[in-house]
Amino acid sequence: MISIKSEREINLMREAGMMVSKTHKYLKPFIKEGITTKELDKIAEDYIRSMNGVPTCKGYEGFPAALCTSVNDTVVHGIPGNYKLKNGDIITIDMVIGYKGYQGDAAWTYAVGDISDDKKYLMEHTEKALYEGIKMVKPGNRIGDISASVYKYAKEHNLGVVKELCGHGIGTEMHEAPDVPNYGTFNTGPRLKEGMVICIEPMLNFGSSKVYLMDDEWTVKTMDKSPAAHYEHTVLVTKDGYEILTPRLV
Ligand code: MF3
Ligand code: CO
Repeated sequence: MISIKSEREINLMREAGMMVSKTHKYLKPFIKEGITTKELDKIAEDYIRSMNGVPTCKGYEGFPAALCTSVNDTVVHGIPGNYKLKNGDIITIDMVIGYKGYQGDAAWTYAVGDISDDKKYLMEHTEKALYEGIKMVKPGNRIGDISASVYKYAKEHNLGVVKELCGHGIGTEMHEAPDVPNYGTFNTGPRLKEGMVICIEPMLNFGSSKVYLMDDEWTVKTMDKSPAAHYEHTVLVTKDGYEILTPRLV
């Protein structure tokens, strides 16, 4: 069952989403050579709590931190730790914030200092793949329209699509129905209706797109060690289209 949010719920999700956007903006100047991912996590958690938000990832199925910090060949769910960012790294910051019981979720990838042209290409086109998916969001369209659009764009730009992980519905829970895969077939899957809220989140890389799970049971890396990028927005289905609940402020 895909829940339809009331006007009251949508307003709370807007607030939760805005907290996610603000936390990304607040963190950005700290994403520099020399800072550890654990320090970034602490800065984010303190800021989230200062807004009376809840860092939903912390404690979620045992995840130990407020942020997922995924550097270079880490695709998702990197655990903040003692790694110090280096010039030329890319890092995806993914976070979920709860506010009055409702969740907002957004990830995007940041450059640390000067990055290679390949990494720039990967970041640019992963974000554009996300927007290709978002453009399909309107009542009457189907989840498969989003999935197929993301996949088509990625393939046209010679990028690999991670298939093991996907987007999701969101509301009082971080993960609700439906699944929103990053590959699929146009005109298939559940139909979108006004008041649904979903997270669309392509994870793209160069090369084979195969991934593996590390022994910590969280960190997902590319098999061939190629860098990965990941962009995610929380998106509301409106009367005639969509509204991004986690707008980019930076
Ligand atoms: N944004 C991530 C997702 O869409 C958050 C999960 S991280 C976890 O799945 F640690 F909380 F699991
Ligand atoms: Co998500």
